[in-house]
Amino acid sequence: MKKSFRINKIIKPYKKVISVEGDKSLSIRWVLLASLSQKKSIAYNLLKSEDVLSALTCIKKLGSKVKFLNKRCEIIGTGFEYKIKKNLILNAGNSGTLGRLILGLLINSKKMVKLIGDKSLSKRDFSRVITPLKKFGAEFKSKKNKLPLTIRGLQKPVPINYFENKGSAQCKTSVIFAALKTNGISTIRAKKSRNHTELLLRYLKVPMTIKKDKNYDLIKIKGINKIKNLNYKIPGDISSCAFFIVLTVLSKNSELLIKNININPSRTGIIEILKKMGASIKMINKKNYKGEKIADIMVKSSKNLKAINCPTNLNSSAIDEFLIIFLVAAKARGISVFKNLSELNHKESPRLIWGSKILKLMGIKNEMTNSSIKIHGNPNISVKKSIIIKNYLKDHRIFMMSTIAALTFGGKWEISDVNSVKTSFPSFLKILKNIDYNFNKFSQK
Ligand code: S3P
Repeated sequence: MKKSFRINKIIKPYKKVISVEGDKSLSIRWVLLASLSQKKSIAYNLLKSEDVLSALTCIKKLGSKVKFLNKRCEIIGTGFEYKIKKNLILNAGNSGTLGRLILGLLINSKKMVKLIGDKSLSKRDFSRVITPLKKFGAEFKSKKNKLPLTIRGLQKPVPINYFENKGSAQCKTSVIFAALKTNGISTIRAKKSRNHTELLLRYLKVPMTIKKDKNYDLIKIKGINKIKNLNYKIPGDISSCAFFIVLTVLSKNSELLIKNININPSRTGIIEILKKMGASIKMINKKNYKGEKIADIMVKSSKNLKAINCPTNLNSSAIDEFLIIFLVAAKARGISVFKNLSELNHKESPRLIWGSKILKLMGIKNEMTNSSIKIHGNPNISVKKSIIIKNYLKDHRIFMMSTIAALTFGGKWEISDVNSVKTSFPSFLKILKNIDYNFNKFSQK
């Protein structure tokens, strides 16, 4: 769909309370774990986005029964052996998380399964999961380790030792999922990344130990042959919330309370980074939920933002938020530096390249390399030009970053592929309308 939006306005001051949809990482993990249990699992507030719907379609094709009504979703899974029909094709759509995680669970598929995805996913690298999954004994066919690919597993995958050095939670989880289906103990040394899988498995009492040091976790996990059902209330997604945090930080005299957000420390890099830059953000009403942490986030407009030399140890906990953080750097006093971010170019679009390109279109000086960016901030900047954003592989976060840039910096923007938000955050525009009743001036072409 080529629908585009035109925006030509700055948002008015506001004071609002909002909530955002369920966390995408937890939603996809819940669907996949529920597919492994023969008992009924129930989730509330499951994210109803295209990525999660693709996950539900995949597990249905593998034999699970799914009922999804409003905010309640029920799954009766197949147990550890999926029902795999001949010539089965699974479509992961736009979702790297689904594509990579489900391959881990197909480690014991006796028949060949084909995995396909959309244009963006078909450009992304799968060697990062193919390499460890081959060690378990799986066979793959692909062109240059990209989709479409086929996998054939084996009845008794062998436990492995594996070193995950990219800080990718998708790779770590794919390996953990495959390890669950072996007959022994697998050892994974993984660079720090979001740890939802480990927390869910611990809650499900899967035999596992984790030794943490500063940059790595040593995970030992024992194969099992069945798993309990999982009832879960999915908290709000901090990666969706991030767009509204930045909207408020960069708007004038505004205040926003965002309710019930997952604040797992492996996801809150954006809050630490923006606070270091002088933003006013507080996490209140903190509580624990089945191993995860949840809070309401209170954010206020921030004057006097200052540049940051971003500590690279925060990269993984802010990995999906850098595009929007770059906008804050553009309005901060001084030159901000972000390093070791080559992983950003492996996302739904090459995001480091796109981040730099959009800032340049806005007239914001920046210097980019393969893995870093220096942004020359200017607190007084306002954009007057016409800016067209298109051909960005429908990367949802590029659409949302551009929308927030238009609303906080000004300019005449035309942003294509509005439907891209459906992959992760279908209610993005509805929430914007709720924050700013004038938002309807925003026109659809
Ligand atoms: C995700 C992990 C991250 C992140 C993605 C979701 C997950 O990817 O960018 O949006 O749910 O495991 P990587 O693991 O490739 O860094």
